[in-house]
Amino acid sequence: MDRAQTQARIDAIEWYHEFDFGNGLRAVTRSDVEGHRAIWGFIERHLAGIDFRGKTVLDIGCWDGYWSFYAERRGAASVLATDDYSQNWASARGIYLAKELLNSKVEINPSQSVYDLSRLGRTFDVVLFLGVFYHLWSPYHAFAQIRHCCHPGTIVVVEGNATYGLPAGGVLYESGRTTSRFTPGCEALDDLLMAAYLRPTGRELLHPPVSPTPAIPAPEPTDRLGWRWRLRMAEAALRGSRPGVRAAAETLFPPAPPPPPAAPPKPDSRIFVACEPLVGANPVHPFRPPYGLHVYDPRFRDEPGSAAA
Ligand SMILES: C[S@@+](CC[C@H](N)C(=O)[O-])C[C@H]1O[C@@H](n2cnc3c(N)ncnc32)[C@H](O)[C@@H]1O
Repeated sequence: MDRAQTQARIDAIEWYHEFDFGNGLRAVTRSDVEGHRAIWGFIERHLAGIDFRGKTVLDIGCWDGYWSFYAERRGAASVLATDDYSQNWASARGIYLAKELLNSKVEINPSQSVYDLSRLGRTFDVVLFLGVFYHLWSPYHAFAQIRHCCHPGTIVVVEGNATYGLPAGGVLYESGRTTSRFTPGCEALDDLLMAAYLRPTGRELLHPPVSPTPAIPAPEPTDRLGWRWRLRMAEAALRGSRPGVRAAAETLFPPAPPPPPAAPPKPDSRIFVACEPLVGANPVHPFRPPYGLHVYDPRFRDEPGSAAA
């Protein structure tokens, strides 16, 4: 197949990511290129700190597999790329073509919901959960399933939308907003992860809050038209000094203060959180946790009726 035919195959697909397949072959994304590039740069900066060499990797909600292929390129021993393609506007055609063009060995599971991950019966060294949780109806259910794919030492990385415009611990749940149905405050996201026995070890915001600019104090009222002012003005005028007259006048009409700072940007940001699996007494749960998470907590593991995983 020649280059033009291959490019035609690429162009027949609706891509989420941009790919450079080499030899001039490119996939272009269909929406908000600049916004997405900023997010992909943010993700890549953080993934750069992970050593993928020899690791087993699970990529959840991988879409066309960009980060799965990235992990493979960085030396992962195996990568399982999963998605539930009923949940996006494209299909799995992109990831299969990308796999072919990149001559990749990534394993693809195109009908794997995050809500059923524990059925895999597998654990991984690195779990990528990038750009997914804020689309979900039940992010906590998803985090619990991810916890069941961890073994000691697993690194879980979670990336998505967050806000710092809510009271501490608050979340914004907008059922009709498919682009961000669930937008947590940063503390709430930490709490949810902890509640799933995933302990946050570091987090960063793409757009951290800007500290408010201090207010400019109003000028002190002065006795500008008192006899000293009149004398200064008269002296300057007699000397024929225009700058002197201007300086005296400026005390009467001080230069306008600078305009107030622009309204703060929307308190939304992308957030990147790295986590490690927690085994032990979890302070978030005074009572037995749901979704089989009790097996990670010695206080509940051996309760009657508890089947340890
Ligand atoms: C914004 S894309 C993120 C793609 C990629 N992970 C990235 O960061 O560039 C969200 C992906 O999550 C997937 N998704 C949504 N709900 C899902 C679910 N319940 N289980 C698995 N994947 C899901 C969508 O199909 C889509 O591919």
